[in-house]
Amino acid sequence: MTLTALAPMQDVTDLAFMRVIAHYGAPDFFFTEFFRVHAQSRLEKHILRSIDENATGRPVFAQLIGEDLQHLARSATELLRHPVAGIDLNMGCPAPKVYKKNVGGGLLRDPAKIDEILGMLRQTVPGLFTVKMRIGFDDTTHFERILDLVNKHDVDLLSLHGRTVKEMYRSEVHYDYIALAARRVKCPLLANGNVTSAATAVRVLADTRAAGVMIGRHAIRNPWIFRQCREAFAQQPVTPVTLADVRGYVERLYLATRVEGLPERVHVNKMKKYLNFVGQSVDATGAFLHEMRRTETEAQLFGVCDRHLLAEPSRLFADEPYPGVIARPNCETPSADADGCSLETVTA
Ligand SMILES: Cc1cc2nc3c(=O)[nH]c(=O)nc-3n(C[C@H](O)[C@H](O)[C@H](O)COP(=O)(O)O)c2cc1C
Repeated sequence: MTLTALAPMQDVTDLAFMRVIAHYGAPDFFFTEFFRVHAQSRLEKHILRSIDENATGRPVFAQLIGEDLQHLARSATELLRHPVAGIDLNMGCPAPKVYKKNVGGGLLRDPAKIDEILGMLRQTVPGLFTVKMRIGFDDTTHFERILDLVNKHDVDLLSLHGRTVKEMYRSEVHYDYIALAARRVKCPLLANGNVTSAATAVRVLADTRAAGVMIGRHAIRNPWIFRQCREAFAQQPVTPVTLADVRGYVERLYLATRVEGLPERVHVNKMKKYLNFVGQSVDATGAFLHEMRRTETEAQLFGVCDRHLLAEPSRLFADEPYPGVIARPNCETPSADADGCSLETVTA
């Protein structure tokens, strides 16, 4: 079976978003946003909800980010009391505030530290222990050594984003390194990075021989993507998505992300962050994005959606993003968490 997973995304892959994704066709696995681990850390309640209240029918892995052995062990042990599929270690986050603390992508500079952490987590986690990483920090000097550590510590699944930390989110993805890893590691490998559509997923799998794909930003743009991947993997026709379907998605997302007491303006700004991705496939000129970004109220936002999505409701939503229609970061609200990954820094 070819695997699919929703990539962990801070401020995105919470319980509400997982529910919406599951409605359109759940991936085989979910991963939580990262739980920060340090001496004073406690498991963040809103992330725990995506585990404890997960009703998608699909397992969810809890992701940790940190470097302190004792506190990583403590957090993993606490998480194992919740209904997690397993524990995932983040070795990829490229935010400078994160890697400067030698966590996330920062760890990729220090194979000796990785050896210690993987050894300790392997001992602590009797069930599935997984790793998500990039191909290196500045370059790929330690890449093969780190893959050998993944083997040494019997990691159960590796998700590999085919960029270095310094390449952030926008460069070409080095699928040749993903192919190398798929040959070298004993565990199944999920190919990650710019898997934009079911057709791209098929091509990436053929090129890399990975066991599956992990999809992030393009699942925000197109939540049908996991169902479409499954159809493509089974060599069945891929169900097209119409603009009217997308109008339904926007409304579902709006209702799912509504929080008691959240001012309308703040909610609208939150929606703009998702719609920044959706807009990449609505029209080739970027007109939807342009107008959507100027809205301030629910009525204005849905007015723009109606004009662009219901004028020709049976027109197809493009499978791939239109070239040159960039999900430019211009939303007004700061990220909920400026020291991690944020929708402002990772749009492409
Ligand atoms: C908004 C956002 C937040 C992210 N947060 C995390 C995170 O918490 N943990 C993690 O391992 N990766 C995180 N990532 C990286 C994604 O999991 C994924 O590796 C990356 O976006 C490349 O995949 P894509 O091209 O399918 O989006 C984040 C990415 C985005 C866009």
